[in-house]
Amino acid sequence: MVDLSADLGFIKLKNPVIPASGTFGYGEEFQTFFDLDILGAFVLKGIYKNPRPGNIPPRLHETAAGLLNSIGLAGPGAEELVNIIKRVAGITHTPVVVNVCGEDDEEYLEVAQIFDALDEVAMLELNISCPNVRAGGKCPAQDGQHTYRLVKLIKQNTVKPLIVKLSPNVKDIVSIALSAEEAGADALSLVNAYLGLAVNLKSRAPVFRNVFAGLSGPAIKPLALKLVYEVARQVAVPVIGIGGITCGGDVLEFILAGASAVQTGTVNMVEPAASVRILHEIETQMQELQIKNLEEIRGELKI
Ligand code: SIN
Repeated sequence: MVDLSADLGFIKLKNPVIPASGTFGYGEEFQTFFDLDILGAFVLKGIYKNPRPGNIPPRLHETAAGLLNSIGLAGPGAEELVNIIKRVAGITHTPVVVNVCGEDDEEYLEVAQIFDALDEVAMLELNISCPNVRAGGKCPAQDGQHTYRLVKLIKQNTVKPLIVKLSPNVKDIVSIALSAEEAGADALSLVNAYLGLAVNLKSRAPVFRNVFAGLSGPAIKPLALKLVYEVARQVAVPVIGIGGITCGGDVLEFILAGASAVQTGTVNMVEPAASVRILHEIETQMQELQIKNLEEIRGELKI
């Protein structure tokens, strides 16, 4: 028997597998594939105060071992998401995480407070790292001072645990991580998608209207693993590793690099029941490698 539980300090999850925002709808879409109760937690698609249509298509483009997306945080708005969450709470006991978005700091706060007040929500994830909503992929997570100011504002006005989702599209992710931690983040999730470019040879134009789009999937796994390793060594708060995870072995690699849990992304779009397989693989690999629990190996990468 192995212990799959993942301790984030402020919450103990039954296992480290958390489908990531934007790859798992609002959870309920996946209940025909498996019982949502098997998950450690799941993150809902990012939400703004008002409904948003998102970016003009094309929004997805496959690459070798990856996926470029330019969704533009389409969503039904906070009021409708409250209804959805109440429905989802009726089908699972798994902790639900709301991915909070905003056009400006005031909107971030307004959205955070709406879901902070909802019993059915376990944690908030502050999405300061979407590469698809501002020109050139700019986002608050690229600026340490803005990250600090925004995280502090949310922490001072909410009570639920706050995960801050970081961008890989920065010169020094460790300094941004430290800003978020200093401002009161309870955990950090990293990384969001890498900025990439796809070209249409016939039109000689970029595939996406925004020119750049967010690259995810196995192509980014080694890059994400590096950043998780670098950040986890420098911060005291738990790190949730994200980036191209497709199997149980990948999860254990992120834990060795210092993550306390992981988010799975693109794999959920390719294989909707991937969580079932990944959980089974984690358990089998832990048995094979004689790992009794995740804490035993967390951050234990031998350098
Ligand atoms: C998107 O909706 O464009 C992607 C979401 C994100 O990267 O946070």
